[in-house]
Amino acid sequence: MHGFHLKNNRWHSDGVPLSRIAEKVGTPCYVYSLPAFESQFGEIDRAYRSVPHLVAYSLKANGNLSVIRALARLGSGADVVSGGELFKARKAGVPAEKVIFAGVGKTDDEIAYALKEGIGYFNVESIPEIKAINEVARKMKKIAPIAIRFNPDVDPHTHHYITTGKKETKFGVYLGDLELVMKTVRECRSVRWTAVHAHIGSQMTQTGPVGMAARVVEKLVLRLRREGFAIHTVNLGGGYGIDYRGEKPPKASQYARLVLPVIQRLNATLILEPGRFISGNSGVLLMRVIYVKQSGSKTFYIVDAGMSELIRPSLYDAYHRIAPALGPQKPVKTVDVVGPICESGDFFAKNRKLPLARRGDLLVVFSAGAYGSVMGSTYNARPLPPEVVVRGTRFQVARQRQTWQDLVRLEKIWS
Ligand code: LLP
Repeated sequence: MHGFHLKNNRWHSDGVPLSRIAEKVGTPCYVYSLPAFESQFGEIDRAYRSVPHLVAYSLKANGNLSVIRALARLGSGADVVSGGELFKARKAGVPAEKVIFAGVGKTDDEIAYALKEGIGYFNVESIPEIKAINEVARKMKKIAPIAIRFNPDVDPHTHHYITTGKKETKFGVYLGDLELVMKTVRECRSVRWTAVHAHIGSQMTQTGPVGMAARVVEKLVLRLRREGFAIHTVNLGGGYGIDYRGEKPPKASQYARLVLPVIQRLNATLILEPGRFISGNSGVLLMRVIYVKQSGSKTFYIVDAGMSELIRPSLYDAYHRIAPALGPQKPVKTVDVVGPICESGDFFAKNRKLPLARRGDLLVVFSAGAYGSVMGSTYNARPLPPEVVVRGTRFQVARQRQTWQDLVRLEKIWS
């Protein structure tokens, strides 16, 4: 787990014991190792250094401003999917021209905001969207730079909820509609089409599907060039998987071995949109055991975090490693680790062998740096937890814990 290690029987983030952070800021809380984010970014960036490229970090995985800022300093761009994410990227210092705006449902207001900022590309997902962007740009007397996302119909072999490149998903333009896309773009004088985008899925653990998608894109670009479109940029999305439970995901260089030849043959610029690869194992969630509950033969560790802090186990049946922050790590009991929320789906692990815990013990949930905080909610009126960033022996609260006051701030009682 990059950035997290066991030293003297205590889990640390860089040089800081996680127990010290929990004592200082309370639980639940997320802890992010900034050097871990940076080194993951560096791995991808280096793998593609032989071609002109932009790594546009996918904010949807972890949108903490300190994280975005750290990556932006290394030259990262931002893959955003809403006006809110665009706002955050800009606030954290990502240059507008390094922002890629994706998503199937961009509103006119969001399109106008992005045009005003001067973003690098709209990743366009449908024919009506081409027309909408054209119309907004025309009114603003601007030319909108677009990449069209095609659905290469490649199976990424991952969870079906995060499969996006098969033709039955809502994402991207069906390749069979290519003629219509070309006709539409020719009629739209306020868009400039210079890039093709394909993202096939998330948490991929094989390189094959990426290679296949790259080859589909290569053929497509050649065809479009023959048709007179000056396509000079290829965006192959994100989706590089990470180790949650012993998977052996490919290294960035292994994907690069398949992708680079395509980019070189096309003499194109490459854009990538990794989220999880950079953030997943760069963050953890800290939580304390509130009760150890025995129910017949079952043992429950009831903890102070729940699906409101990390919904992945509930939503995808996802596996996250869990360990005590202190003390012996030997598994001695089979337990369910569950949250306090009033849903039977509120769990972190079922029938997991974990060391004996006592009320008050601190537990670490690993691989919580991606799709943790960003998918958080205040369900059951639970304030959002703080996010802490660590560098070396120092740490800082990068986002404060919400208060009960925050929970009602926007409400007005109708009396
Ligand atoms: N680009 C596009 C167009 C995407 O749809 C996504 C993720 C990414 C990039 C970044 O993918 P990554 O490198 O992080 O795999 N909540 C789910 C994951 C949803 C992914 C959605 N799209 C989870 O917790 O597993």
